[in-house]
Amino acid sequence: MSDVRSHLKSLERSKRSLTDPDRPRTFSMMGREWDLLDEVFAPVHSPSTGIALDFLGLTGTDSQTRSPSLLEIGCGAGVIAVQAALAGWTAVAADINENAVENTRLNAERHAVADRVTALHSDLFDALDDGARFDRIFWSSNYVLAPADYTYQSVHERAYVDAGYRTHRRYLEQAVHHLTDTGSVLLHFCERGDMDGLEKIAGECGRELRVLRRRTVLEGQDPIEHTLLEVLPGPLTEAERGSRTGARVAASGARHRAQRERVGVRPEKDRPVHA
Ligand SMILES: C[S@@+](CC[C@H](N)C(=O)[O-])C[C@H]1O[C@@H](n2cnc3c(N)ncnc32)[C@H](O)[C@@H]1O
Repeated sequence: MSDVRSHLKSLERSKRSLTDPDRPRTFSMMGREWDLLDEVFAPVHSPSTGIALDFLGLTGTDSQTRSPSLLEIGCGAGVIAVQAALAGWTAVAADINENAVENTRLNAERHAVADRVTALHSDLFDALDDGARFDRIFWSSNYVLAPADYTYQSVHERAYVDAGYRTHRRYLEQAVHHLTDTGSVLLHFCERGDMDGLEKIAGECGRELRVLRRRTVLEGQDPIEHTLLEVLPGPLTEAERGSRTGARVAASGARHRAQRERVGVRPEKDRPVHA
C-alpha cells in the first residue's frame, strides 16, 4: 500500500494533531473564530473541512433562498453545520465523539444559530428517530481504511481511520432510509481511502456511487484528490445503462441534475479538477 493510503501514517497524523503543543483553543476559518475542544478533529490540521464547505457550496456569506434540512454525520467542531445554518439551512449535527457534540453546540452559540443546529451524540444514525428525514445527508468521512481488527486508541482516531470500513458500510446501507423523497446522500471521500473497496461495499449494499465533484490539493508533498460522492439507492437498470436517449435515461438524468442543483454543486464536467 502506498504511503498515501497507509492507516499507520493517518494514525500518526491523528497523534500529531492531538499532541501538537501549538494546537489552538480557537481558530479562524471563513472569516470567523471557532472554538476547538480537546480530542476533536482540528480543521486547521487538514484541508478536508475547507474542501467539504466548498463541495457543499457553503464558502460564501449569502443566505440561500432555499432552506434545506441537513443531517451532518461526524460534525467535529461544527464548522460545516454552523456554516449551513448561517446560510439558512436547519441542521442536525451528529458525532460519535461527545467532545465534538459539545464543540458544535459551543460554535452554534458563538455564531447565534443554536436555534437552527441540533447537536447530537450518535453513532451514525442510531440516536435518530426512525422517522427522521432530511433533504441532505453528508459525511466528511474517516476515509482511510484500517485493518478490520484494529482497536482504536482514542476517539480522535475515529476522525482519521475506519476499521474494516464497518462505519462506511453502515453509512451506505442506512443513510438512504433517512432521506426526504427528493433528498440526497453525500459522502466526502479521498484518494487516501480505498475507492475500489468502497465501490465493492456499495454494490453489496445495493447502492451506486456517483462522482459529483473532484478537487486535488497538495497535502505536504502529495497531491491528494478529494471526491464528493452521491450515494444512490440502487444500481442503474439495464435500460438506464443502455441508450443515453431513452426516456428512462432522460428521466434519470433529470433526477440526478435536480439532485446536484439541490446540493448546490456543479456537475463534475463543468469544473476544474485541480484546486
Ligand atoms: C474527518 S472528521 C470531519 C469533522 C468535521 N465534519 C469537519 O469537516 O471538520 C470525521 C468525523 O466523523 C466522526 N465519526 C467517525 N465515526 C463516526 C460514527 N460512527 N458516527 C458519527 N460520527 C463519526 C469523527 O468523530 C469525526 O468528527
